[in-house]
Amino acid sequence: MRDDECIQFLQWALPQLRLRWPGFRKVRGQVCKRISRRMADLRVDEISAYRDYLGEHEDEWNVLDRLCQVTISRFYRDHQMYRFLAGEVLPELARQVRRQGGDELRIWSAGCGSGEEPFTISLIWRMQMQADFPDLSLYLLATDSNPAMQRRVADARYAYSSVKELPAGWRDTAFTRDEKHYCLKPEFRRAVRFRQQDVRQTVPAESFDLVLCRNLVFTYFDEDLQRSALERISAVIKPGGALVIGVHEDLPEDVGGFGEWSARLRIYRKAD
Ligand SMILES: C[S@@+](CC[C@H](N)C(=O)[O-])C[C@H]1O[C@@H](n2cnc3c(N)ncnc32)[C@H](O)[C@@H]1O
Repeated sequence: MRDDECIQFLQWALPQLRLRWPGFRKVRGQVCKRISRRMADLRVDEISAYRDYLGEHEDEWNVLDRLCQVTISRFYRDHQMYRFLAGEVLPELARQVRRQGGDELRIWSAGCGSGEEPFTISLIWRMQMQADFPDLSLYLLATDSNPAMQRRVADARYAYSSVKELPAGWRDTAFTRDEKHYCLKPEFRRAVRFRQQDVRQTVPAESFDLVLCRNLVFTYFDEDLQRSALERISAVIKPGGALVIGVHEDLPEDVGGFGEWSARLRIYRKAD
């Protein structure tokens, strides 16, 4: 399928999935390849014929929805944001837990990919924070709608490209190596629990000090879906807790209930 054909198809199909084309512009290559493979499986040659197929097979929209889920991630992605989390946000949230008599810092990574994001938090906790908060434990819930992520999180094996942005010393300390992969040591995995969950339909029935929802809702979802997802996410953030979105993302306009912790790094604090 030609690029212009795929663009035209996505601009037609994405709104029907409540997704937005601008989010897909840069990453369309991955999605277009998957759609081409799907067409080959169905023995459909032309994109117009695939459109007809969608018209005749309601279930195919669920397949297309899965094909449109972009899975790119990396450890320590947007390192300035992680530095600010480590230096300011996490210590403040940990002190808040303490002040309230708690013994657990609770974090949710929504759309966690293969675990790069929650495991980065786990690394920060063990490398930089645990010594200052020996009375607290870390609970990290990692959710993703893609069932394949469960195995990947459990395996915690990564190519160099996934870990290359980490400080070299952290890589050496936290990973063992085989020929092709960096394998995260068990002590860095322990805090992370994975659950398959679609953030469009459900959120965990728990509350959190920090929620990371990066490079998912506010990139790919249409505005109505962004607002409804944000409402549900906001409901599980504790008063005084924080929300992190992707550094290239924006919250929908006129959203109440959050103040800016760092506008540049897209970190928001829920009103007390
Ligand atoms: C682009 S990756 C972002 C990963 C990580 N948050 C980051 O910023 O590096 C988006 C992830 O969201 C997942 N995802 C897509 N749609 C989802 C949905 N509706 N509910 C939950 N996860 C979803 C994808 O499977 C993918 O792992």
